[in-house]
Amino acid sequence: MLNISNDKYQKLLSIHQEKRLNIVNLDDLSFIEWEAIISSFRKLATEYNYANCSQQLIITEQLLTEQFRQELLNENPVLRLIEAIFCQATHSKYHLMHIKKMGLKQFSYTDQCIGFAAISLALGLPLAADKSTGQVVWDIMDRKEKKASYQTFSEGKGEADYHTDTAFYEKPVRNFALHCIKPAECGGGVNRFCNAAALRQKLIRDPEHAWIVKTLTGIPATFRVPSSFTHHKENECIDAFIFGDDVPVRFRLDSIHKGHELKYGRQNNELLKAIDALMHIVDNPDNMLKMRLEEDAAVFINNYEVLHYRDDFMDPSRHLMRIWIK
Ligand SMILES: [Fe+2]
Repeated sequence: MLNISNDKYQKLLSIHQEKRLNIVNLDDLSFIEWEAIISSFRKLATEYNYANCSQQLIITEQLLTEQFRQELLNENPVLRLIEAIFCQATHSKYHLMHIKKMGLKQFSYTDQCIGFAAISLALGLPLAADKSTGQVVWDIMDRKEKKASYQTFSEGKGEADYHTDTAFYEKPVRNFALHCIKPAECGGGVNRFCNAAALRQKLIRDPEHAWIVKTLTGIPATFRVPSSFTHHKENECIDAFIFGDDVPVRFRLDSIHKGHELKYGRQNNELLKAIDALMHIVDNPDNMLKMRLEEDAAVFINNYEVLHYRDDFMDPSRHLMRIWIK
């Protein structure tokens, strides 16, 4: 790990704890020379035969290898600094890293994608959000035109219940990041975050609630893998504990409902009772933090420990970008 004791760098960040969440704050990254990073990224993509220098660069998981990551960070020392901050945050068991201002607002859509991907590479390698194209930057916006039989949370305006991302993968993504291009003007679309791993530790010591943890560590949930995420079978399911060993928390209720229906033809009521009890505790104001991402802000989320939720919203122009980080 790099030494980031230098004053200049320490001024960049502050750390605080709120509602059991360790939060790293990076106030303002607009000092970064984004033009240099974007041009370096485009040059490397061209060398890797993934793009010409046009605006049409598609940022894929195949492009963003460890070698690409190392070359980009070597060419841009500021990304090494961000890597050191992220590394320290990871070692300090962070839950959220909140960047209040990225400094990308004035750039084109593609260049904002590049800037967001570049900063995410400082934490790790991305996982494709779209299996067919390999694209890693996913637009979270209302897609009224999409006639999918199953619309994901990121494609609609409705409430997104507490969940972890990629809960239905054998190995869910360890982190993910959101970058706000345009918040909802109606005031909706506010996120809530709960450190469910800490709550698990608290509840197991509480005689009244220990049964919840015992149920969620003792009965595996069957998650249905959405068809757009499967490689092989049509009706793929995985069995995993909501409170596991390697992955402390994984949860996605609609996937569990579908998985149990598919595998057993019925729900497991004991499991659902424990989930329901947990969700009541999770959404207690003492246990969750509300956060509205402002324009040009970003947040990195520890997806192995933190459950997240999003309010519904009316404003169809709300637009966030998301990257999953392995
Ligand atoms: Fe999510």
